[in-house]
Amino acid sequence: MSRIAYVNGQYRDMRDAGVNIEDRGYQFSDGVYEVCEIRGGKIVDMPRHLARLQRSLHELRIAMPMPQAALEVVIHETVRRNRVTYGIVYLQITRGVARRDHAFPTKPVKPAVVVTARGLNYQKNQETAARGIGVITIPENRWPRVDIKSVSLLPNVLAKQQARDNGAYEAWFVDGEGHVTEGSSSNAWIVTKDGRVVTRSAESGILAGVTRAVLTELLAALQIRLEERPFTPAEAYEAAEAFVTASSQIVMPVVRIDGRPIGTGTPGAITTRLREEFHRFSNFS
Ligand code: PDD
Repeated sequence: MSRIAYVNGQYRDMRDAGVNIEDRGYQFSDGVYEVCEIRGGKIVDMPRHLARLQRSLHELRIAMPMPQAALEVVIHETVRRNRVTYGIVYLQITRGVARRDHAFPTKPVKPAVVVTARGLNYQKNQETAARGIGVITIPENRWPRVDIKSVSLLPNVLAKQQARDNGAYEAWFVDGEGHVTEGSSSNAWIVTKDGRVVTRSAESGILAGVTRAVLTELLAALQIRLEERPFTPAEAYEAAEAFVTASSQIVMPVVRIDGRPIGTGTPGAITTRLREEFHRFSNFS
């Protein structure tokens, strides 16, 4: 079955779908995106993703290209046309098409909208989670506005590749003060030996993850103590457990950091429980 993409008002076969070469997303990475999990054919936590999308657009002074309800229809329709039951939906909005000039176009242009959906292998994802993943730490080299979910991801791309080149799955950025910020495409967490769950506050240095926000509600319900504070790689090496969160993988156990086994070197009990129970607090639409 060929894949279908929504591109600027039309559903197109992906082989024929395209955008203008003067789209500012292509030339300046002048745009934002969201990734939502699809489960049982439903979109997980779409209201939170769309709220963050609105915020990212606002920060970059890009107009919302259509009412939120219309965007929801497009997202559902793209998932339906691609017959995805488990996977991800990708939504990208760029400032639009204009003759190349760094400053914003002087005449208003229509933001460009692309939505795609893709099935993921659930079994493979579960197997990866059962084994756990390796992480490396690298110096933070991104701009300070990582709170905006911008398509400008070159440092993240290079970080992820460095992880792969080192036989790891994710890279954690470490800021100038020696604290872990987040992963190249995920938020970073550790569990202390006495069962406290630690992650950096969303006030600075990280993207406010939707998975992160939902997980804080689950932690409260399970009466597991959450500490929102920075931690160092040295503290992480000594942690009982570690994991990352992102919409594409939910809660993914980390069993190795910079080649050192974490805890027993296998996915931890708290992490595993959080993964199993995660969707209790999700919204499905
Ligand atoms: N990435 N931090 C970064 C830098 C991310 O790119 C992501 C998500 C997250 C987690 O956010 P959320 O829980 O809302 O997915 C944190 C997506 C999945 C991606 O780029 O593919």
